[in-house]
Amino acid sequence: MSKPNDSKSRPIAGWLLFLVAGIGVFALGMLASSITERRAETVPARLQFMQPIADFEADNAKWGQSFPREYNSWESTKDTNENSKYGGSGFRDYLEEDPRLVVMWAGYPFAKEFNQARGHYHSVDDVTGTKRIDEKTPGTCWTCKSPDVPRMMEKVGIEQFYSGKFAEFKPEIKNPIGCADCHDNKTMQLRISRPALVEAFDRQGKDISKATHQEMRSLVCAQCHVEYYFKGDKKYLTFPWDEGFKAEDFEKYYEKNEHVDWTHAVSGAKMIKMQHPDYEVYQQGIHAFRGVSCADCHMPYRSEGGIKFTDHQIRSPLYNIQNACGVCHKWSEKEVIGRVESIQDKNKELLAAAQDAITRAHLEIGDAKKLGATDAELDGPRKQISKAQMFWDYVAANNGMGFHAPQECARVLAKATNYAQMARIEVAVIRARFGAGPFAMPDLGSKAKAQEFIGLFVESAKAKTAATTAAPAPAPAPEGASAGRTS
Ligand code: HEC
Ligand code: HEC
Ligand code: HEC
Ligand code: HEC
Repeated sequence: MSKPNDSKSRPIAGWLLFLVAGIGVFALGMLASSITERRAETVPARLQFMQPIADFEADNAKWGQSFPREYNSWESTKDTNENSKYGGSGFRDYLEEDPRLVVMWAGYPFAKEFNQARGHYHSVDDVTGTKRIDEKTPGTCWTCKSPDVPRMMEKVGIEQFYSGKFAEFKPEIKNPIGCADCHDNKTMQLRISRPALVEAFDRQGKDISKATHQEMRSLVCAQCHVEYYFKGDKKYLTFPWDEGFKAEDFEKYYEKNEHVDWTHAVSGAKMIKMQHPDYEVYQQGIHAFRGVSCADCHMPYRSEGGIKFTDHQIRSPLYNIQNACGVCHKWSEKEVIGRVESIQDKNKELLAAAQDAITRAHLEIGDAKKLGATDAELDGPRKQISKAQMFWDYVAANNGMGFHAPQECARVLAKATNYAQMARIEVAVIRARFGAGPFAMPDLGSKAKAQEFIGLFVESAKAKTAATTAAPAPAPAPEGASAGRTS
């Protein structure tokens, strides 16, 4: 530290230093601005349109005429032959891999079918092909599947689109997720095409049009890769973000808004099904903290004949490590995979522990009911199991097997398991009052066996609703009901 009179004694030296530094900064500034100017000069050339693109143009091939590299790489999302340890674009039947899931979703469409997601190219085929869609499914289910959606919303109105029927829009919705979902047709700037995201920002008191370019590189994904629900009778697509992005915030939101997705067919608990809170979970991780966007890892730059462009084959980055991670991490591919899988293995283990406790709790509560326990007695354990499963699902439904925010996922799963074990302790006391010993687990060795087992509960719940409803009123239809959501 210099003493005060040091600087007083050498004023000229101080000024000289200041002057030299000033010139240096100015020179650097000139250099930087010339670089950005040159970049700005090259951008329009790169973004020249061969033909103008019409407003709401949903046909990806039309955009492809002007931007063949982006189009061709986008088209590669049709590939389905990449399966990493926990992700990838190949086929994976989650219910067969872990039949406990069938019990956990008893009375909800996910107990029928739940397979691994594929690339964007398949979005329309996959939503129309799933067993979770039926004649009651609302139009809302199309929202994250196609660039025909903004077009239809413009045509019929947003509210009318959501509250219409899925089947009604089927003839109009043909193009899989593509250019118009993320780009402006005149400038090719990134743009938000889905109202739910804009509305969620509004309710948080934030203006999405003020988002930075780097934030937009994640926000285009946050139009779809988020937790959502269908609000009210009009099935209005809503992101439950008013309290924040954490599992506890969603819990608070759904409590306040008195929303439940379904009543569990075995335990009778009121349940919430989480969707894929990818953006929300990512927010809790180190990469978001350091400003790394979804596109940095899932759409890295790529070179072709000396031309640099954004790789539009959105997929597991583990098939593209060099471009996706190598820019920032000078680790070998083997090291990257080892690092990622070690995070994912741990997450998988914690998920499995929660699943085990939650499955047992549902079955034990169901058994207590059979023994004669009243709804009032079972209220406590049912509330615990609802929380447990919601917390578990916040992690389970989010993609990447814990990679996007490992510590947050571990924290939430610890809470999930704890809630489930609390439910089990409470229900053990109730069952003991009826003289029951340890609960004998049914054979859940395969998806078919688990579905057969819960089928009995679903049937009896159906019979009961039929008996208690005189007229064909809108009763909570257990299996296949288009309750809150389908995807
Ligand atoms: C630091 C890099 C990184 C960032 C940033 C990132 N991801 Fe990921 N993402 C990964 C990795 C690694 C996986 C695991 C892939 C696997 O297991 O094959 C993954 C998996 C996924 C998957 C599942 C893919 C599959 O094949 O199973 C989705 C969907 C996904 N991320 C979406 C997002 C979204 C949306 C964002 C931004 C909100 C995001 N990611 C941010 C690296 C990243
Ligand atoms: C899921 C969102 C998404 C979809 C779908 C999408 N893009 Fe992009 N696109 C991006 C992102 C992110 C960038 C990088 C923009 C940036 O950082 O400025 C980009 C950049 C571009 C660029 C600028 C040049 C470049 O390569 O960086 C062009 C041109 C482009 N996309 C064309 C297309 C075309 C054509 C399609 C449809 C076949 C398409 N995009 C579909 C998100 C998307
Ligand atoms: C318009 C809605 C929408 C937007 C926007 C969107 N996605 Fe998706 N994404 C989906 C849907 C739906 C699927 C599942 C498609 C299927 O299984 O048929 C999916 C699948 C994926 C997959 C899995 C692919 C695979 O091979 O396993 C990844 C990774 C992914 N998205 C990442 C992103 C990223 C990163 C962005 C932003 C740059 C983004 N998505 C933008 C809806 C969207
Ligand atoms: C744009 C830069 C960038 C990209 C791309 C990127 N990372 Fe990172 N990554 C970071 C930063 C910054 C950190 C924080 C650690 C630090 O400050 O050194 C980090 C941390 C990590 C960590 C340590 C996490 C922890 O919780 O301690 C892992 C593992 C990791 N990255 C894996 C990946 C993988 C795998 C990919 C590719 C799919 C990837 N990263 C892509 C910048 C990046």
